Amino acid sequence: MADIIQAVRGMNDLLPDQTGTWQAVESVIKTTLSEYAYKEIRFPLLEKTALFSRSIGGATDIVEKEMYTFADRNGDKLTLRPEGTAGCVRAGIQNGLFHNQTQRLWYMGPMFRHERPQKGRYRQFYQTGVECFGFDGPDIDCELIVLSARIWRKLGLDNVKLELNSLGSLESRTAYIKVLTAYLSDNADDLDEDSTRRLKSNPLRVLDSKNPDMQNIIAQAPELIDYLDSASREHFDQLQEMLASHNIDFLINPRLVRGLDYYSRTVFEWSTDQLGAQGAICAGGRFDGLVAQLGGKQVSAVGFAMGLERIIELVNIAGNNLPSGDIGIYLCLLGAEAKRAGMLLAEKLRDKSLSVLAHCGDNSLKSQLKQADKSGARFALILGEDEVSSGKIIIKPLREKKSQYSVEQTDLYSHLLPSFTA
Ligand code: HAM
Repeated sequence: MADIIQAVRGMNDLLPDQTGTWQAVESVIKTTLSEYAYKEIRFPLLEKTALFSRSIGGATDIVEKEMYTFADRNGDKLTLRPEGTAGCVRAGIQNGLFHNQTQRLWYMGPMFRHERPQKGRYRQFYQTGVECFGFDGPDIDCELIVLSARIWRKLGLDNVKLELNSLGSLESRTAYIKVLTAYLSDNADDLDEDSTRRLKSNPLRVLDSKNPDMQNIIAQAPELIDYLDSASREHFDQLQEMLASHNIDFLINPRLVRGLDYYSRTVFEWSTDQLGAQGAICAGGRFDGLVAQLGGKQVSAVGFAMGLERIIELVNIAGNNLPSGDIGIYLCLLGAEAKRAGMLLAEKLRDKSLSVLAHCGDNSLKSQLKQADKSGARFALILGEDEVSSGKIIIKPLREKKSQYSVEQTDLYSHLLPSFTA
C-alpha cells in the first residue's frame, strides 16, 4: 500500500465536528465588528519578502527565523504572511485608502510562522486582525480595547486579563534603548544565550524573555515608562482614564514590549492563564510610523490581532454553547415514491431557511432513525409510501421525551416553526 501523506507539521485540519464552533466564534466576532462599523479588507497570503523584513523588523524572531520564504519560478523572493498588519498597510497604500480619510478595517485568515509547534502554537494559525488608520488620539485605542472586551463577553470568556504599556515615540524609545543597553551590558555575564544575542540585535526584546533565570535582571532593569516623552505620557494617561470610564480592568506592565518592531506608544495584550504557556489571545498597539516607513505618507495607526485557535480552545474550556449551525431536521425516506416526493419537500423547508438532511440510500427505518439521532438533528420526519398517498408526514422529536405524531404535509411548516424560532 502507498504511504499516507501527512499534513505539514504544525498545520492542522479542522474537522466537521470542530467547524461549527469555529463558524459560531467567527460570526460573533464579525457581528461585533460590524456593530462598530469596521469594514473587511482581504489581501494576499503571499507578499514580497521585503515587505515583512521592512515592517516587522530584520532583527525580530519572526523575520530572523520563522518566515516561510522561497523564490518563485521567476526568482522573486516571496513569503507566506506571518501576520496581517504589513499586508494591510501595503494594500492601503497601494489602493490609496489613506488619502484624507480614516479607515477602520478588519481581516480574518491564516498566518504562517515556522515556530516550534506545541499546544496553542502552530505553523499555520488563524488570526482576526483589526487596523485603524488616521486617528491620532487615545479614543481609538480605547475603542479597540472596548471592542475586544465586548467579544470576550459575547463568547462568555471571563478569565482574561489586559496588560498595557506605552513604548513612547521613536526618539524616547531610542533614548531608553541606550540606557537599557548600558544596564544589560553591565550584567552581560548573567545573560542567557538568547538575551546575549538580543542585546546586540534588539535589546528591548530581552525584556520579553520567559527564562526564569533572567527574571531578576529584567525586574531590575530601568523602565521605559520613565523615559516617555510628554505627548506619549499624556496619550497613555488619557487612555487609562477612558478605559476606567468603561470599567475595563487593566494592569500596566512596563516589560510589555511586543515581538514586532513597528510599535510606538500604546501596546497591549489580552491573556489567560487557562491555556498554559501560550496564554496570549489578542495583542496589538499603535504603529504610527509604519505607513510612512512603507512608502506612504505619515498616517497614525493602531490595531490588534487575536489568535482564533486559542480563543476557540478557551470557548471549549468554558463549555459555552454557541449556536453552531446544527442540523434541524433529518428526513427519513422509505421507498422510491417517498424519495422523490421527499426531495421536493426538503427543498420547500429549505426555502423557509430550515436546515434539512435528506437521507440518501435504501436503509431500513431503524437504521435511518439511528443516523438521524447521530446527526444531532432536533426532529426526524418520516415519509413512507402510506404518507405519500395520504398527504401526511410523521414528526418524531429526537431531543425531547415526546411521541411521534402525524400531520398534514401542508401544515408541516407551522408545526415545526415554533421549535425553531423559540
Ligand atoms: P502577534 O502578537 O504576533 O501580533 O500575534 C497576535 C496573536 O496571534 C497572538 O496573541 C496569538 O493569539 C496569535 N498567535 C501568534 N502566533 C501564533 C502561533 N504560532 N500559533 C497560534 N496563535 C498564534 C501580530 O500578529 C500583530 N500583527 C498584531 C497587530 C495588529 N498589531 C497591530 N495590528
